[in-house]
Amino acid sequence: MKFNSPFKAEVAGTGIYLPEKIVTNRDLEKILDTSDDWIRARTGIQERRVAREDESASVLAVNAARAALAEARLEPDRIDMIIVCTSTPDVLYPSTACYVQKELGAFRSAAYDISAVCSGFVFGLSIAEQFLKAGRYQHILVIGSEVNSRIVDWTDRSTCILFGDGAGAAVIKRVETSERKGVLSSHIYSDGTQTDILGVPGGIGRTPISHASIDEKQYFIKMVGNATFKFAVKRMSDVALEALEYNGFTTKDVDLMIPHQANKRIIDAVGERLEVGPEKIFVNIEKYGNTAAASIPIALHEARQCGRIKPGNLVLLTVLGAGLTWGAALIRW
Ligand code: UT7
Repeated sequence: MKFNSPFKAEVAGTGIYLPEKIVTNRDLEKILDTSDDWIRARTGIQERRVAREDESASVLAVNAARAALAEARLEPDRIDMIIVCTSTPDVLYPSTACYVQKELGAFRSAAYDISAVCSGFVFGLSIAEQFLKAGRYQHILVIGSEVNSRIVDWTDRSTCILFGDGAGAAVIKRVETSERKGVLSSHIYSDGTQTDILGVPGGIGRTPISHASIDEKQYFIKMVGNATFKFAVKRMSDVALEALEYNGFTTKDVDLMIPHQANKRIIDAVGERLEVGPEKIFVNIEKYGNTAAASIPIALHEARQCGRIKPGNLVLLTVLGAGLTWGAALIRW
């Protein structure tokens, strides 16, 4: 059912923060049985960022948020809601978003985290879209922030080469207009039958912290890479098509597709399935690897910075993450 609201949800500002430290494939060659050639050929990644010890997800998030607020020319006390999308929160609770709220001084906002891993930002954007189109709120800050370096096993070459740290933020604003612009629609899904192929099994409830669970490295990312790869290609393509069809478009109408940056081969395969040429696909995985929930907002910001998104452009976001979770959003700029 389509929801016809007099309100639209527009991106009023974006910002990013990347930790300074760069770890290249060559650096990883020194500690792992891997090679720069293998990582580039199988993933497209050349380097990734690693946060300092004092840079937790909230610290990265605050830096990205300040940049997004500056572009939106918005004072923190005008934010109604802060949604932090993260799978590497500062602590189990309170939410990372509450630390972000305190640092920003955004005390009028409801602040909370959502956990949809790499799909986090599109899930967060979808929540923001609903609140804004319902007329309930005016400004919502959606942030993807991750310190994956804290939960990768640096001795597991099949996972640690993939991930990186970073944050991206967007101020989403309610506007009243009859124009068809802003977030046109968002489509989010989950499949709880695939919880075993990607996750961090150790945790508070199921595997209480013990010497044994630490020795078994239960607090690190475990992934069945090729199964995740196949789901990513299919789900990201299918949900992208759904978003286009829902709005009466085809892939030919897309000006820029921004896919989750997990593996360049996944991105290429999605492009082929959708028949969207490489010139219309934004890729920055070579610099940052997979930054999970931060991947889409970092790419969105960089795409805008380098002039790949112009007024009137149709931008398609598509993602897949652990859960499994997946989703797409279509934005008319
Ligand atoms: O964010 C959403 C979730 N994440 C993803 O979507 C990631 C999805 N998966 C992938 O990106 C890929 O599956 C990987 C990059 C993780 C792995 O690539 P692959 O082409 O699926 O390789 P594979 O797992 O089938 O392994 C092929 C070989 C194996 O050796 P054998 O058994 O053939 O002798 C691995 O041990 O490559 C070996 N290998 C490595 N070799 C050098 C695995 N990792 C490495 C490595 N360096 N870093």
